[in-house]
Amino acid sequence: MTKTINLAIFLSGKGSNFASILKAISDGRLDARIVVVISNNSEAGGLSIASGNGIPTEVLERGNFASGEEFGATMLKVLKSYNCDFIALAGYMRKIPPTVIRAFPKRIVNIHPALLPKFGGKGMYGHYVHEAVIAAGETESGATVHFVDEIYDNGDIIGQKRIPITSDDTPESLATRVLEVEHQLYPEILQQLVTRLN
Ligand code: GRF
Repeated sequence: MTKTINLAIFLSGKGSNFASILKAISDGRLDARIVVVISNNSEAGGLSIASGNGIPTEVLERGNFASGEEFGATMLKVLKSYNCDFIALAGYMRKIPPTVIRAFPKRIVNIHPALLPKFGGKGMYGHYVHEAVIAAGETESGATVHFVDEIYDNGDIIGQKRIPITSDDTPESLATRVLEVEHQLYPEILQQLVTRLN
């Protein structure tokens, strides 16, 4: 018998990727259960989506803890309390504490709005990514799902989806089209990963 994976979603913002994962689960395209949504930002739109769907939420902000160790230990305790097996970062704007990374080897993934290893790293988020891609004269962009390690956007790449860049693309139009691709790619990759875990 296969075990349904208990997934934790980490987010800081509006949560459209989280919503696409939820939809994939309800459509039967992803065999997982979202057990908790964790955010550093109590105002994150994704938290309202969670509450509206009866999913527990937790707000954990590094600034409320005396040390990084204490922050990491609390995050681990929260994840364990929900029996979490796997973590998907969906627009989470903070680093994951090293103790949490070590406790979930190859079980933390992230989605990035460009074709890594290009256009990643510290400061490469949101519109900065799409501005940099267009300024570099790239002819294609897309989305990347990768494992998370202790360096931003650095872990092994699991999957990518590409789109062409047209001559009239702006950072805004590119952002919109890449986000659509993210919403397809992330649930597909998560399904591949949960199948492998079973
Ligand atoms: C996405 O573009 C994702 O690639 C990046 O953060 C953004 C989150 O968007 N890591 P949303 O909150 O899922 O709408």
